[in-house]
Amino acid sequence: MLALQFVTLLLSAAALAFPGSSKRSIPRGFVSTRGSQFELDGKPFAFVGANSYWLPLLTTNDDVEKTFKSMQQAGIKVLRTWGFNAINGSELVGALESGLTYYQVWNSSEWTLNDGPQGLQRLDNVIETAGKYGIKVILAFTNNWVGYGGAELYINWIAGAGNTHDVFFTDPRIIASYQKYVRTIVNRYKNSPNIFAWELMNEARCLGDMLPAGPNCVAGTNVVPKWYRQQSDFVKSLDPHHLITTGGEGHFFWKNPVKYWFNGTLVSDYNFNGQAGEDFDKDLLLPNIDFGTYHLYPQSWYSNLDTPGSNFSVEQWGLGWIDDHAISAKKANKPVILEEFGVGGLDNKTNIYPSWVQRALDTKHA
Ligand SMILES: *[C@@H]1O[C@H](CO)[C@@H](O)[C@H](O)[C@H]1NC(C)=O
Ligand SMILES: *[C@@H]1O[C@H](CO)[C@@H](O)[C@H](O)[C@H]1NC(C)=O
Ligand SMILES: *[C@@H]1O[C@H](CO)[C@@H](O)[C@H](O)[C@H]1NC(C)=O
Ligand SMILES: *[C@@H]1O[C@H](CO)[C@@H](O)[C@H](O)[C@H]1NC(C)=O
Ligand SMILES: *[C@@H]1O[C@H](CO)[C@@H](O)[C@H](O)[C@H]1NC(C)=O
Repeated sequence: MLALQFVTLLLSAAALAFPGSSKRSIPRGFVSTRGSQFELDGKPFAFVGANSYWLPLLTTNDDVEKTFKSMQQAGIKVLRTWGFNAINGSELVGALESGLTYYQVWNSSEWTLNDGPQGLQRLDNVIETAGKYGIKVILAFTNNWVGYGGAELYINWIAGAGNTHDVFFTDPRIIASYQKYVRTIVNRYKNSPNIFAWELMNEARCLGDMLPAGPNCVAGTNVVPKWYRQQSDFVKSLDPHHLITTGGEGHFFWKNPVKYWFNGTLVSDYNFNGQAGEDFDKDLLLPNIDFGTYHLYPQSWYSNLDTPGSNFSVEQWGLGWIDDHAISAKKANKPVILEEFGVGGLDNKTNIYPSWVQRALDTKHA
């Protein structure tokens, strides 16, 4: 579930040649979309990207520069990183000692902003340096998981003990607090061409690491799609020009969800049956969701793959997942990006990554 231990990559489809001029008055240097392609200054913009949640955690400017330089040399044009780093008040003393980057401190139902040199000024530096190397940044506003201070800090401090994870998406006090933070970040960078897109949350799901999903967040209750709608509308009202995406793993809610054989039983597939909370096809159609994201970690999602009794392999499953999202992109006429993926073991990486990347490129999402 904590997808971060894997090497990850962002990938957009190869661009098709697309004639014509831009439809809206988009400021120069801002990325936009045209059908299922991205555009930059009226030209198709296809890219390979990197996930480096840790970049704003670097404590020296020299390390930040070196990282961007090597990304540039590798041809990377888009970086995805965290626009959040929240700590508990009890962690503050340790954070000050170790130099840990933090933007929000939770000591009560109100967090305190840190826009100082150990806080948002580090994010400022990352976003500014990105521009120097021709790289644009996707910033996520919070995390579904506890890493780097996610949704469960909001839940613990605002709603209190005994709540399920999904109250993050429905409690009006939590939504107001989240939006207060979102407003802070968006207002800080909304004029910057170095931002590629805003991301509502990393991997929104009904359940979290510590807290389970409640009965209000099950297949068909629409809790996560409604939240995507509300938050994407909110962000667009603050900043009409930058792209907005979900940051989700790309779970589907299909009428006839996929099933697979395991150990003699036909199992309903969590990634297709809506239990996770997302409804990828529908979420992609939301008016202010400009493009879709999906992640790909079959080994952690199906610990029983590739074992006797299951009827598919990690590689095959990934290829199908890529195809399924390309079909959604085509239906919605919006781009989608394979935003994170990973398998464990060097041999597995060597065998599987080229085939997944090639498939994602081949789909062209059109
Ligand atoms: C934050 O600290 C409070 C008490 O200070 C504790 O109850 C809570 O579990 C902590 N939450 C996290 C996510 O660390
Ligand atoms: C939060 O509480 C801790 C003790 O738990 C204290 O050291 C710190 O100064 C407080 N921070 C803020 C921002 O209130
Ligand atoms: C596994 O079996 C199910 C049920 O027969 C089928 O729907 C699915 O397509 C199979 N998967 C693969 C990868 O063959
Ligand atoms: C497979 O099914 C058998 C018989 O029902 C059961 O004993 C066994 O624990 C199952 N194996 C796994 C890995 O679930
Ligand atoms: C490589 O993939 C296989 C199949 O999923 C898995 O059993 C194996 O543990 C993986 N290797 C490593 C080192 O993770």
